[in-house]
Amino acid sequence: MSYFQRKFPNTRMRRTRMKSFSRRLVAESFLSINDLIWPIFIIEGNNKRDEIKLMPEVFRYSIDSLLKELEPLVKLGLNSVALFPTISSDLKDIEGSNAYDQDNLVCRAIRSIKIEYPSLGVICDVALDPYTNHGHDGIVIDGVVDNDVTLNKLIMQALVQSEAGCDILAPSDMMDGRVGAIRKSLDKNNHTEMMIMSYAAKYASSFYGPFRDALSTKKLTKPKNKKTYQMDYPNADEAMHEIEIDIAEGADMILIKPGMPYLDIISKAKDNFKMPTFAYQVSGEYSMIMAASHHHYIKKEDAIMETVLSFKRAGADGIFTYFAPSLLERLSLSSF
Ligand code: PBG
Repeated sequence: MSYFQRKFPNTRMRRTRMKSFSRRLVAESFLSINDLIWPIFIIEGNNKRDEIKLMPEVFRYSIDSLLKELEPLVKLGLNSVALFPTISSDLKDIEGSNAYDQDNLVCRAIRSIKIEYPSLGVICDVALDPYTNHGHDGIVIDGVVDNDVTLNKLIMQALVQSEAGCDILAPSDMMDGRVGAIRKSLDKNNHTEMMIMSYAAKYASSFYGPFRDALSTKKLTKPKNKKTYQMDYPNADEAMHEIEIDIAEGADMILIKPGMPYLDIISKAKDNFKMPTFAYQVSGEYSMIMAASHHHYIKKEDAIMETVLSFKRAGADGIFTYFAPSLLERLSLSSF
Protein backbone atom coordinates (compact mmCIF):
# COMPACT_ATOMS: atom_id res chain seq x y z
CA MET A 1 0.00 0.00 0.00
CA SER A 2 1.38 3.37 -0.91
CA TYR A 3 2.08 5.95 1.70
CA PHE A 4 -0.90 7.99 0.52
CA GLN A 5 -3.39 5.10 0.44
CA ARG A 6 -3.15 4.38 4.14
CA LYS A 7 -6.46 5.04 5.80
CA PHE A 8 -8.21 5.06 9.13
CA PRO A 9 -8.68 2.79 11.02
CA ASN A 10 -5.59 0.87 9.84
CA THR A 11 -3.58 3.98 10.24
CA ARG A 12 -3.96 5.82 13.50
CA MET A 13 -1.43 8.63 13.72
CA ARG A 14 -2.05 8.94 17.44
CA ARG A 15 -0.58 5.50 18.26
CA THR A 16 3.01 6.68 18.46
CA ARG A 17 1.97 9.83 20.31
CA MET A 18 0.34 7.99 23.19
CA LYS A 19 3.44 7.43 25.32
CA SER A 20 6.39 9.59 26.14
CA PHE A 21 8.93 6.91 25.17
CA SER A 22 7.44 6.40 21.71
CA ARG A 23 7.16 10.14 21.14
CA ARG A 24 10.89 10.30 21.85
CA LEU A 25 11.52 7.26 19.69
CA VAL A 26 9.95 8.85 16.60
CA ALA A 27 11.33 12.38 17.18
CA GLU A 28 12.85 13.71 13.96
CA SER A 29 14.75 16.76 15.24
CA PHE A 30 17.04 17.22 18.22
CA LEU A 31 18.90 19.93 19.96
CA SER A 32 22.45 19.23 21.06
CA ILE A 33 24.85 21.26 23.17
CA ASN A 34 27.03 21.48 20.05
CA ASP A 35 24.31 23.41 18.21
CA LEU A 36 24.32 26.41 20.52
CA ILE A 37 26.10 29.69 19.92
CA TRP A 38 25.81 32.24 22.71
CA PRO A 39 25.81 35.89 21.56
CA ILE A 40 27.46 38.02 24.26
CA PHE A 41 27.57 41.79 24.80
CA ILE A 42 30.84 43.16 26.14
CA ILE A 43 31.82 46.54 27.62
CA GLU A 44 34.92 48.26 28.96
CA GLY A 45 35.64 48.28 32.67
CA ASN A 46 36.13 45.94 35.57
CA ASN A 47 33.73 43.68 37.33
CA LYS A 48 30.77 44.91 35.30
CA ARG A 49 27.59 42.97 34.65
CA ASP A 50 24.89 45.42 33.56
CA GLU A 51 21.45 44.15 32.65
CA ILE A 52 20.14 45.33 29.27
CA LYS A 53 16.85 47.14 29.79
CA LEU A 54 15.06 45.74 26.75
CA MET A 55 16.49 42.23 27.17
CA PRO A 56 15.74 41.03 30.71
CA GLU A 57 18.35 38.61 32.11
CA VAL A 58 20.83 39.47 29.34
CA PHE A 59 23.91 41.40 30.49
CA ARG A 60 26.78 43.46 29.19
CA TYR A 61 29.96 42.03 30.66
CA SER A 62 33.37 43.54 31.18
CA ILE A 63 36.04 41.11 30.01
CA ASP A 64 36.94 39.97 33.55
CA SER A 65 33.31 39.23 34.49
CA LEU A 66 32.74 37.47 31.19
CA LEU A 67 35.61 35.11 31.89
CA LYS A 68 34.00 34.25 35.24
CA GLU A 69 30.55 33.86 33.67
CA LEU A 70 31.93 31.50 31.04
CA GLU A 71 33.53 29.06 33.47
CA PRO A 72 30.45 26.99 34.42
CA LEU A 73 29.08 27.18 30.88
CA VAL A 74 32.29 25.88 29.31
CA LYS A 75 32.18 23.06 31.88
CA LEU A 76 28.65 22.25 30.67
CA GLY A 77 30.00 22.04 27.12
CA LEU A 78 29.38 25.50 25.63
CA ASN A 79 30.73 25.19 22.10
CA SER A 80 30.97 28.74 20.81
CA VAL A 81 30.26 32.38 21.54
CA ALA A 82 29.66 35.43 19.34
CA LEU A 83 31.02 38.73 20.63
CA PHE A 84 29.24 42.09 20.33
CA PRO A 85 30.90 45.20 21.77
CA THR A 86 29.17 48.22 23.26
CA ILE A 87 31.58 51.01 22.40
CA SER A 88 31.60 54.27 24.37
CA SER A 89 30.40 57.24 22.33
CA ASP A 90 33.77 59.04 22.46
CA LEU A 91 35.35 56.15 20.52
CA LYS A 92 32.72 56.21 17.77
CA ASP A 93 33.32 58.27 14.63
CA ILE A 94 32.04 58.54 11.07
CA GLU A 95 34.52 55.94 9.81
CA GLY A 96 34.12 53.46 12.67
CA SER A 97 37.90 53.58 13.07
CA ASN A 98 37.93 51.77 16.42
CA ALA A 99 36.74 48.67 14.50
CA TYR A 100 40.22 48.20 13.06
CA ASP A 101 42.26 49.12 16.12
CA GLN A 102 44.10 45.96 17.12
CA ASP A 103 43.67 46.77 20.81
CA ASN A 104 39.95 47.46 20.70
CA LEU A 105 37.52 45.84 23.10
CA VAL A 106 36.70 42.88 20.85
CA CYS A 107 40.34 42.05 20.15
CA ARG A 108 41.21 42.18 23.84
CA ALA A 109 38.21 39.99 24.65
CA ILE A 110 39.24 37.43 22.02
CA ARG A 111 42.79 37.25 23.42
CA SER A 112 41.57 36.85 27.01
CA ILE A 113 39.03 34.17 26.10
CA LYS A 114 41.62 32.26 24.10
CA ILE A 115 44.05 32.25 27.03
CA GLU A 116 41.42 31.07 29.50
CA TYR A 117 39.33 28.76 27.24
CA PRO A 118 41.46 27.88 24.21
CA SER A 119 39.02 25.40 22.73
CA LEU A 120 35.92 27.61 22.96
CA GLY A 121 34.96 28.78 19.46
CA VAL A 122 34.94 32.58 19.12
CA ILE A 123 32.84 34.20 16.40
CA CYS A 124 33.14 37.92 15.61
CA ASP A 125 30.85 40.14 13.58
CA VAL A 126 32.46 42.00 10.75
CA ALA A 127 30.44 45.21 10.48
CA LEU A 128 31.05 48.80 11.46
CA ASP A 129 27.79 49.63 13.26
CA PRO A 130 29.03 49.27 16.86
CA TYR A 131 31.78 51.76 15.99
CA THR A 132 30.13 54.43 13.81
CA ASN A 133 28.50 57.50 15.33
CA HIS A 134 25.68 57.28 12.76
CA GLY A 135 24.94 53.62 13.60
CA HIS A 136 25.26 52.30 10.05
CA ASP A 137 27.20 49.18 9.10
CA GLY A 138 29.22 51.09 6.53
CA ILE A 139 30.70 54.45 5.61
CA VAL A 140 28.06 57.07 4.79
CA ILE A 141 28.89 59.47 1.98
CA ASP A 142 26.33 62.14 1.04
CA GLY A 143 23.56 60.27 2.84
CA VAL A 144 24.33 56.95 1.13
CA VAL A 145 26.07 53.92 2.68
CA ASP A 146 28.98 53.55 0.25
CA ASN A 147 29.59 49.93 -0.62
CA ASP A 148 33.14 49.92 -1.96
CA VAL A 149 34.62 52.40 0.51
CA THR A 150 33.15 50.24 3.29
CA LEU A 151 34.82 47.09 1.93
CA ASN A 152 38.27 48.54 2.60
CA LYS A 153 37.36 49.11 6.26
CA LEU A 154 35.79 45.68 6.67
CA ILE A 155 38.99 44.06 5.41
CA MET A 156 40.96 45.87 8.09
CA GLN A 157 38.47 44.90 10.80
CA ALA A 158 38.54 41.26 9.66
CA LEU A 159 42.34 41.26 9.82
CA VAL A 160 42.69 42.65 13.35
CA GLN A 161 40.10 40.16 14.60
CA SER A 162 41.91 37.29 12.87
CA GLU A 163 45.27 38.38 14.29
CA ALA A 164 43.70 38.48 17.77
CA GLY A 165 42.74 34.81 17.43
CA CYS A 166 39.08 34.76 16.46
CA ASP A 167 37.94 31.44 14.94
CA ILE A 168 35.08 32.48 12.69
CA LEU A 169 34.52 35.83 11.01
CA ALA A 170 30.86 36.63 10.54
CA PRO A 171 30.32 39.48 8.08
CA SER A 172 26.93 40.94 9.02
CA ASP A 173 27.07 44.22 7.11
CA MET A 174 25.41 43.11 3.84
CA MET A 175 27.75 45.07 1.57
CA ASP A 176 28.13 43.50 -1.88
CA GLY A 177 31.40 41.67 -2.43
CA ARG A 178 32.48 41.68 1.20
CA VAL A 179 32.97 37.94 1.58
CA GLY A 180 35.22 37.85 -1.47
CA ALA A 181 37.17 40.92 -0.40
CA ILE A 182 37.69 39.56 3.12
CA ARG A 183 38.66 36.10 1.82
CA LYS A 184 41.19 37.58 -0.59
CA SER A 185 42.84 39.68 2.07
CA LEU A 186 42.86 36.77 4.57
CA ASP A 187 44.61 34.59 1.99
CA LYS A 188 47.16 37.31 1.30
CA ASN A 189 47.91 37.61 5.00
CA ASN A 190 48.39 33.91 5.78
CA HIS A 191 44.95 33.33 7.24
CA THR A 192 43.92 30.73 4.68
CA GLU A 193 42.28 28.58 7.38
CA MET A 194 40.03 31.30 8.77
CA MET A 195 36.36 30.32 8.63
CA ILE A 196 33.81 32.77 7.30
CA MET A 197 30.21 32.45 8.37
CA SER A 198 28.37 34.86 6.17
CA TYR A 199 25.20 36.59 7.32
CA ALA A 200 24.16 35.78 3.77
CA ALA A 201 20.47 36.48 4.07
CA LYS A 202 20.00 39.21 6.62
CA TYR A 203 16.70 41.02 6.48
CA ALA A 204 15.97 44.65 7.38
CA SER A 205 13.99 43.67 10.45
CA SER A 206 12.16 45.35 13.28
CA PHE A 207 13.26 42.46 15.49
CA TYR A 208 16.77 43.97 15.95
CA GLY A 209 15.37 46.78 18.13
CA PRO A 210 16.57 45.57 21.55
CA PHE A 211 20.04 44.71 20.15
CA ARG A 212 20.51 48.22 18.78
CA ASP A 213 19.53 49.54 22.19
CA ALA A 214 22.09 47.21 23.81
CA LEU A 215 24.83 48.55 21.52
CA SER A 216 23.56 52.15 21.74
CA THR A 217 23.15 52.25 17.95
CA LYS A 218 19.45 52.95 18.05
CA LYS A 219 19.29 56.39 16.47
CA LEU A 220 20.28 56.08 12.85
CA THR A 221 21.03 59.38 11.14
CA LYS A 222 20.45 59.70 7.41
CA PRO A 223 19.68 57.16 5.95
CA LYS A 224 17.12 56.49 8.69
CA ASN A 225 17.05 52.71 8.27
CA LYS A 226 19.14 49.85 6.86
CA LYS A 227 16.86 49.02 3.94
CA THR A 228 19.41 49.99 1.29
CA TYR A 229 21.66 47.12 2.32
CA GLN A 230 19.71 44.59 4.39
CA MET A 231 17.14 42.45 2.53
CA ASP A 232 13.50 43.24 2.00
CA TYR A 233 11.25 40.76 3.81
CA PRO A 234 8.91 39.82 0.93
CA ASN A 235 11.83 38.18 -0.89
CA ALA A 236 12.97 34.56 -0.82
CA ASP A 237 14.51 33.99 -4.28
CA GLU A 238 16.71 36.98 -3.64
CA ALA A 239 17.97 35.29 -0.47
CA MET A 240 19.02 32.25 -2.52
CA HIS A 241 20.84 34.59 -4.89
CA GLU A 242 22.64 36.28 -1.96
CA ILE A 243 23.66 32.91 -0.50
CA GLU A 244 24.91 31.59 -3.83
CA ILE A 245 27.13 34.64 -4.26
CA ASP A 246 28.55 34.41 -0.73
CA ILE A 247 29.39 30.73 -1.17
CA ALA A 248 31.11 31.49 -4.48
CA GLU A 249 33.09 34.25 -2.77
CA GLY A 250 34.42 31.86 -0.14
CA ALA A 251 31.93 31.55 2.73
CA ASP A 252 32.20 28.27 4.69
CA MET A 253 28.87 28.61 6.47
CA ILE A 254 25.77 30.66 5.98
CA LEU A 255 23.48 32.40 8.42
CA ILE A 256 19.84 33.42 8.09
CA LYS A 257 18.60 36.26 10.22
CA PRO A 258 16.21 36.83 12.01
CA GLY A 259 15.05 33.33 12.92
CA MET A 260 11.39 32.58 13.44
CA PRO A 261 9.84 34.78 10.73
CA TYR A 262 12.33 33.29 8.22
CA LEU A 263 12.03 29.51 8.72
CA ASP A 264 11.13 29.15 5.04
CA ILE A 265 14.43 30.75 4.09
CA ILE A 266 16.41 28.39 6.35
CA SER A 267 14.63 25.43 4.81
CA LYS A 268 15.14 26.59 1.22
CA ALA A 269 18.78 27.46 1.87
CA LYS A 270 19.51 24.02 3.30
CA ASP A 271 17.69 22.25 0.47
CA ASN A 272 19.39 24.31 -2.23
CA PHE A 273 22.97 24.53 -1.02
CA LYS A 274 23.51 21.74 1.54
CA MET A 275 25.87 24.07 3.35
CA PRO A 276 26.40 24.38 7.11
CA THR A 277 23.42 26.63 7.83
CA PHE A 278 22.72 28.70 10.93
CA ALA A 279 19.75 30.53 12.38
CA TYR A 280 19.90 33.64 14.55
CA GLN A 281 17.12 33.96 17.10
CA VAL A 282 17.54 37.72 17.39
CA SER A 283 17.04 40.16 20.24
CA GLY A 284 13.43 41.01 19.41
CA GLU A 285 12.50 37.33 19.34
CA TYR A 286 14.18 36.90 22.73
CA SER A 287 12.43 39.91 24.24
CA MET A 288 9.02 38.86 22.90
CA ILE A 289 9.28 35.48 24.59
CA MET A 290 10.50 37.09 27.82
CA ALA A 291 7.71 39.69 27.80
CA ALA A 292 4.94 37.19 26.99
CA SER A 293 6.12 34.78 29.67
CA HIS A 294 6.47 37.61 32.17
CA HIS A 295 2.73 38.23 31.68
CA HIS A 296 2.02 34.48 31.86
CA TYR A 297 0.71 34.46 28.28
CA ILE A 298 3.03 31.56 27.47
CA LYS A 299 5.22 29.15 29.42
CA LYS A 300 8.78 30.28 28.90
CA GLU A 301 10.72 27.00 28.97
CA ASP A 302 8.29 25.25 26.62
CA ALA A 303 8.19 28.18 24.21
CA ILE A 304 11.99 28.41 24.07
CA MET A 305 12.39 24.72 23.28
CA GLU A 306 9.66 24.87 20.64
CA THR A 307 11.34 27.79 18.88
CA VAL A 308 14.84 26.31 18.85
CA LEU A 309 13.53 22.94 17.66
CA SER A 310 11.72 24.74 14.84
CA PHE A 311 15.11 25.99 13.60
CA LYS A 312 16.51 22.48 13.71
CA ARG A 313 13.44 21.10 11.92
CA ALA A 314 13.78 23.75 9.22
CA GLY A 315 17.33 22.58 8.57
CA ALA A 316 19.60 24.71 10.74
CA ASP A 317 22.80 23.07 11.96
CA GLY A 318 23.24 25.55 14.77
CA ILE A 319 21.52 28.45 16.44
CA PHE A 320 22.60 31.81 17.79
CA THR A 321 20.38 32.33 20.82
CA TYR A 322 20.45 34.47 23.94
CA PHE A 323 18.80 31.49 25.64
CA ALA A 324 21.98 29.41 25.18
CA PRO A 325 23.00 29.40 28.89
CA SER A 326 19.63 28.17 30.13
CA LEU A 327 19.36 25.66 27.25
CA LEU A 328 22.80 24.30 28.12
CA GLU A 329 21.68 23.70 31.68
CA ARG A 330 18.55 21.94 30.50
CA LEU A 331 20.42 19.81 27.98
CA SER A 332 22.90 18.72 30.58
CA LEU A 333 20.02 17.44 32.72
CA SER A 334 18.05 15.60 30.04
CA SER A 335 17.98 15.04 26.32
CA PHE A 336 15.64 16.52 23.74
C1 PBG B 1 25.03 44.42 13.20
C2 PBG B 1 24.20 43.35 13.77
C3 PBG B 1 22.86 43.44 14.17
C4 PBG B 1 22.56 42.24 14.79
C5 PBG B 1 23.69 41.42 14.73
N1 PBG B 1 24.71 42.12 14.07
C6 PBG B 1 21.90 44.55 14.12
C7 PBG B 1 21.62 45.29 12.91
O1 PBG B 1 21.88 44.85 11.79
O2 PBG B 1 21.11 46.40 13.05
C8 PBG B 1 21.23 41.92 15.43
C9 PBG B 1 21.22 40.91 16.49
C10 PBG B 1 19.99 40.88 17.33
O3 PBG B 1 19.03 41.65 17.13
O4 PBG B 1 19.97 40.05 18.25
N2 PBG B 1 25.47 44.38 11.95
